[in-house]
Amino acid sequence: MTALRHFLDLDVLEPVTLRGILDDSVARKRRRRLGQVEAPLVGKTLAMIFEKPSTRTRVSFEVAMRQLGGETVMLSQVDMHLGRGESIADTARVLSRYVDVIMIRTQSHDKLLDLAAHATVPIINGLTDRTHPCQLMADIMTFEEHRGPIAGRTIAWSGDGNNMAASWIQAAVRFDFKLNIACPEAYMPATPILTWAKEHQGRITVSHDVAAAIKGADCVVTDTWVSMSDTRTDGKRELLEPYRIDRAAMALAKPDAVFMHCLPVYRGQEVVPEVVDGPQSVVWDEAENRLHAQKGILAWCLNVPTI
Ligand code: CP
Ligand code: NVA
Repeated sequence: MTALRHFLDLDVLEPVTLRGILDDSVARKRRRRLGQVEAPLVGKTLAMIFEKPSTRTRVSFEVAMRQLGGETVMLSQVDMHLGRGESIADTARVLSRYVDVIMIRTQSHDKLLDLAAHATVPIINGLTDRTHPCQLMADIMTFEEHRGPIAGRTIAWSGDGNNMAASWIQAAVRFDFKLNIACPEAYMPATPILTWAKEHQGRITVSHDVAAAIKGADCVVTDTWVSMSDTRTDGKRELLEPYRIDRAAMALAKPDAVFMHCLPVYRGQEVVPEVVDGPQSVVWDEAENRLHAQKGILAWCLNVPTI
């Protein structure tokens, strides 16, 4: 039996695989724009398990499956036995008998790994407390659409060292760019991810100096200060105040730098409206690219030949 093509995280996938998924996503976006209809996933079903809210991930996966000819089943833990004691392992075994691929958004990264360990179909990480790799595929795609190859470029992250920061760290290693992170001491990215990046010669800096992180960057990124199911919120906003992206912060980056944010955005907190709604912002393209990137991910997981 060949190994299942799980899309769990960027650190466990080879650069050549990730680049292949991106190339395929870009090609599918182009063909869709030309009005070409393709349905390689006819007869295939994606199950989506959501333990947390979602707008973009849910809708982009659902529409991606439909546009590729497949179907989806939406599951929330409240209407599954998973929410009242059935194990993730048994859920994995059962769902694998019905569907061809499963996407899960869960609070616990270990639950994602448990699902993958017991499923006999590919598993996709639709966000955990630790990482958000699908978002990064859309983010890299968006940066490259606007500014060309990301390899060798400098990306600046300012804010919470959260799940998105973790996936940016993994992406920096896999796509060979420099990543400057500015965050408060209390909200540093998780140590194991930084250690992994160091072991893989990642060009990552972590400091509390927003100006130094952003100076000369090709792209400035931030995310919400309070993530879904965030439990450590006491005084967090106050600590993050200096990390807000405003026009003065953007002015430190290259004049043609882009601003990115995975959304949802909280205007006036992590970023001011003048930046997120301003000329350097590419957040709507970034959101759109979730749809195209999901297609590349689904096609890879289901071993659809690239055209
Ligand atoms: N960026 C992102 O994952 O958005 P949702 O939470 O709406 O899916
Ligand atoms: N860090 C955010 C990302 C939302 C897409 C969260 O986990 O809530």
